[in-house]
Amino acid sequence: MTTKLEEKEMTTATTYKNLRTEVTGATAVVTLNRPQVLNALNTELMTELADALQNFDRDEQVRVIILTGGERAFAAGADIKEMADESTVSMMLRDNLAIWDKIRFIKKPIIAAISGFALGGGCELAMMCDMIIASETAQFGQPEINIGVIPGAGGTQRLTRVFGKYRAMEIILSGRPFSAKEACELGLVNRVVPVEVLMDEAHALAAEIAKKSPLAVRLAKEAVLKTYEMTLNEGLQFERKSFYMLFDSKDQKEGMKAFLEKRPANFTGR
Ligand code: CAA
Repeated sequence: MTTKLEEKEMTTATTYKNLRTEVTGATAVVTLNRPQVLNALNTELMTELADALQNFDRDEQVRVIILTGGERAFAAGADIKEMADESTVSMMLRDNLAIWDKIRFIKKPIIAAISGFALGGGCELAMMCDMIIASETAQFGQPEINIGVIPGAGGTQRLTRVFGKYRAMEIILSGRPFSAKEACELGLVNRVVPVEVLMDEAHALAAEIAKKSPLAVRLAKEAVLKTYEMTLNEGLQFERKSFYMLFDSKDQKEGMKAFLEKRPANFTGR
């Protein structure tokens, strides 16, 4: 149930065909909405998703984004019907997966709230987010091997970085799904919660992060993601420069002053 204040803060953003979007306070929620095909990720949906995320990335009111789906499925993968008759050349020319890169470069933190199937591209989309909260019903997996292909949107890379070679190899080569509990034990999921409180948990985490300096949050996200791309030495240099850079922000002055004055900080993102 929403309070009067929350209702006042709630605004409905752009309308899309395959998504619902909503902003509550500083949190934007993007809901994948193609339930008739378990939110299969076709080109139209992915184009809309990249557009919605980029819009929220630019919107100063928004500090955190939650990406979710339905109770039965977050997403059951890329749309098999859309690609079944493609050829190597047509796949290369259309290069549909290039849309996914736009999501990779979103600067604000994205929390995935997953219920039901997160398979193939659905699992890969979840892994592109920065934190994952799963309901007890969530089921992950990279079943592409069952349809004669391999993961194409980062599964072989991101899953291996989380699980290590041996477990990732089993998941990707066998195509077997794995539970939210297993995902949590192996470090893919932040926590597993009952389905009824999934969105409350995601909102609570979003609200906690939204209170921080958006500049610091942005640089922290960037620095953590650099571990995927840099050597330790390069990453440490990047982190140190980002740390020094924040000392020209009002938020750093406010944060440290508030600490010394024993009061909560009021960060403005400047
Ligand atoms: N693409 C297109 N349609 C899909 C789909 C997908 N990935 N997943 C499910 N659907 C459709 C089904 O065709 C079905 O449509 P109809 O009612 O018109 O027949 C509808 O969604 C409901 O699905 P099911 O009847 O199959 O539901 P179920 O409960 O029996 O099974 C499931 C659920 C186990 C998730 C099963 O649907 C399934 O195995 N889906 C495919 C999963 C998959 O292989 N994903 C990987 C795709 S490839 C990929 O993602 C590449 C990449 O890396 C980018």
